[in-house]
Parts: sequence; C-alpha cells; structure tokens
Amino acid sequence: MTTPHLYIARTLTDVAMASLADVGLPVVTGDEAPPERDRLLHDVAGAAAAVVTLTERVDAEFFDAAGPQLRVVANVAVGYDNIDVAEAARRGVVVTNTPGVLDDATADHTFAMILAVTRRVVEADRFVRSGEPWIWGPRMLVGLDLSAGATLGIVGLGRIGRAVARRAQAFSMTVLAHDPHYAPGDKVDGVTIASLDDLLATSDVVSLHVPLMEATRHLIDEAALARMKPTAYLINAARGGIVDESALIPALRDGRLGGAALDTFEGEPKVNPELATLENVVLQPHIASAGGRTRDRMCLLALDNVRDVLTGREARTAVIP
Ligand code: DGY
Repeated sequence: MTTPHLYIARTLTDVAMASLADVGLPVVTGDEAPPERDRLLHDVAGAAAAVVTLTERVDAEFFDAAGPQLRVVANVAVGYDNIDVAEAARRGVVVTNTPGVLDDATADHTFAMILAVTRRVVEADRFVRSGEPWIWGPRMLVGLDLSAGATLGIVGLGRIGRAVARRAQAFSMTVLAHDPHYAPGDKVDGVTIASLDDLLATSDVVSLHVPLMEATRHLIDEAALARMKPTAYLINAARGGIVDESALIPALRDGRLGGAALDTFEGEPKVNPELATLENVVLQPHIASAGGRTRDRMCLLALDNVRDVLTGREARTAVIP
C-alpha cells in the first residue's frame, strides 16, 4: 500500500468500528482473532498508525516491517508488556494505552472471582450439573465468610487496586495493600499499607494488580506462596507472568493454599492442564475488563490517541518510556 494507512490488528467493537468514518486514512483491519505473525507484519507495512491488542507482540521486527512513517501504536489495554516501549521511543513512535476506562469493570470481575472461589460458586455449579443427588446440609460446600472480618491483601494500589479496595470495604473486609509508592503503616483511603511479606502472611485473599515488568515477574513465587496462610486464596486478574505457576500448582494440589482464581496465565492463551484438574481453582479467559461499555471505551480511547498523534496533538494517554 502506498498511502500510509491506519492498521487495526483485530476487529474492534461495533461502536469503535463505526467511528472510523472520520479517520481520513485508508483502514486495514484484521479479523476478530489475532493475526498470524506473517499477516501482521505484512499488513502493518507502510502504516502511519497501528491499533493493537495485548495479543500482538510489538518489537523491533514489528517496527522494521511497519517502516519509518509509523507514528503511533495504540494498545487496546492498560497493560503494555506486549510492546517494546524503549524500542518505540528510539524510533520516535508514540505508544499509548487505555488507563482509567476499565478500572470498574476489572474490579467488578476481580470481585466476582473472589466470591466465586471463596464461596465455591463454580465448584457448586459443576456439582449440581453432575447430577449427583444432593440435599441441603450444614457441611455442604462451605466457604469463606468475606464479611466476617476477612482480610484482603491488594498487591498494587493503582487505579484498579483502589477500585477493588472500595468493593472489599463495602463487604466490611479489612483491606491491606502493598505498593512501592507508599510506606508500611501509611493509610490510603482506609487501606493500610503493609510490606509484601506482612500482607502475604496475614491476608485471607491476595489480589494482584501490578503490571508485568522485570520487577514483578514471578513476584508470587514458591517463597511468596509459602508465606501465605494455607487457607488463603490467590486472585490474578493482572498478568500471568506475575505468578510462578510451577510453584502455584503444587501448592494448590497439596493443600498449602486454599484456592486461586486466575484470569491470566503464564503461557496464555494456553492453560496448564493441571490447573483444570483442581477443584479449588476458578479459571477465566482473560475477561476482567470485558464489560460492553468498557470495551467500547477502551477501543474509542485507542482511536482517540491515534487521532491525537496524526493531527499533531499530544496523545491523551501516552505511555512514558
Ligand atoms: C488490560 O487492559 O491490560 C487487560 O488485561 C485487558 O483488558
């Protein structure tokens, strides 16, 4: 293609696709499924702007294929560990993400996962569907009472972590958080800041809300899991690489951890088949932000960032390299 185009790696929501009429560039759009790498590299060649999702790896090869006229890569996600931001900066390409528009949806789903695993909702559903005879009983499928003084430990008190904290406070939970921006003992909106060790040792539920980067890769490893109470639950709606699954699986299997609810996986979209054999695990296909209005807002924000850059304005949510 000779005229620089807008490349959109995957079909966005209907609302976002309809908004493309005014973009003023030819648009090349991929399918709903992620493009094969060869097709991605072919279709991005000559683009002025690219809209990608977390399933597309944006690295030196991507930038080489795109060419020097590429001005902006807009990620339809708040996390941007799929993008080599330093490489983009070297080439003068602006990278943007979608912060702020998915906090409530992600926090809602995180809380759904907390309830699902602690009150055994999915396990109970499987049980009823199995057709096994049952009758109400005082010992049947008993779970954790969140509202009876349970403690939630939030790792990462950014926008999403705070939104999860508000929901936990409405359930009368004690809320701790670990975040390098605060010192242990600080109070932030009713949340007590703790060291990671203390948070792990005292929480009944630990929920992860940090980005994936070198400092957080395998943050929850064998040693971290060993610090948690054997009755505690781990919730991950952030990125799979934050948890060392090879340590998590035996801990769950051998009763060294109460359970886990996982929306993201180390080998995503592959899920370690052993996880699927464990009753005390709730598995989700990376859908924590999948509210309809939220997905529209994510896609529209990505396109607004593209328009900003192409019209010479500063991108409204640029990632700082
Ligand atoms: C994000 O935004 O980073 C989520 O993981 C996808 O919605």
